[in-house]
Amino acid sequence: MEKLKTPIMAPSVLASDFSNMEKALALIDKSGGDWVHFDVMDGSFVPDITFGHKMVRDMRHHSTLPFDVHLMIMHPESQIAKFAHAGADRITIQAEVTIHLHRLIMQIKGIGRKAGISIVPSTPPEQIKELLPFVDLVLVMTVNPGYGGQKLIPESLKKVAYFRQQRKEKGYDYLIEIDGGVNKDTRMEIMEAKPDVIVTGSAFFKAPYPDKYLQLFKKGK
Ligand code: DX5
Ligand code: ZN
Repeated sequence: MEKLKTPIMAPSVLASDFSNMEKALALIDKSGGDWVHFDVMDGSFVPDITFGHKMVRDMRHHSTLPFDVHLMIMHPESQIAKFAHAGADRITIQAEVTIHLHRLIMQIKGIGRKAGISIVPSTPPEQIKELLPFVDLVLVMTVNPGYGGQKLIPESLKKVAYFRQQRKEKGYDYLIEIDGGVNKDTRMEIMEAKPDVIVTGSAFFKAPYPDKYLQLFKKGK
C-alpha cells in the first residue's frame, strides 16, 4: 500500500467549552493541530445555532493557525465578507444552499480567501463536478451536519476516491477534507480513504492526551 501522506489535522471548536474558547485554541496549538475548524450553524440549514463572525474575530488574535470556517448556513452570500474580514483564511459553503454556487465560490476567492464546497451525505459527488476547477477545497461530510459526536457514515467516505480521481485525471489542485465521526476507531478506514484534511471535534476534546490522539493520524500509517 502506498505510504499515506500525513493529513492536515483540523480540530473543530464545536466540541470545545464555549465559555473558554481561548483555552480551546491553546490546546489545539499545543497538541499539534494544523488548522482550527469553526462549525458555523444558523438553526436553519441545520437544527442548531453555534456562533457568528464575531467568534472568529475574537479568536483571531489568539492563534496563528489557519482558520477553516465551515458555513453550514442558508444565504452564505450575506456572511462571506464578514467572516473574511473577521480573520477566516478558508471559507467553505454547502452545495445544497443555492443554485448559484459558482458565483459564491468566486465571491470568496475575490476577497482573497481559499474557497471550499461541502456536500452532505445525501449529495452525490458528481453534483459539484462543474465547480471542481474553481475550488481550493472539497469537504465531504461524513455525518449529517448539525451536531458533533455522531457516528461516521462509511458510504460517505467513498466519495473521497471520486474527488481524488477527478483531481488526478483533470490536474485540479483542491484539498479533500472530511468532517464528522472521526475518532481512533474510525481512523484506519479514514486513512485508507486518504483525505488531505481531517476535521475532528469530540474525539479531540475528549481525548486524555489530545497530542497523542492527533499523532495517531499524523504518523500516516
Ligand atoms: C457537523 C460538524 C461536526 C464536527 C465534527 O455538523 O461539522 O462534524 O465538525 O464533529 P465530531 O468530530 O465530533 O464528529
Ligand atoms: Zn465542519
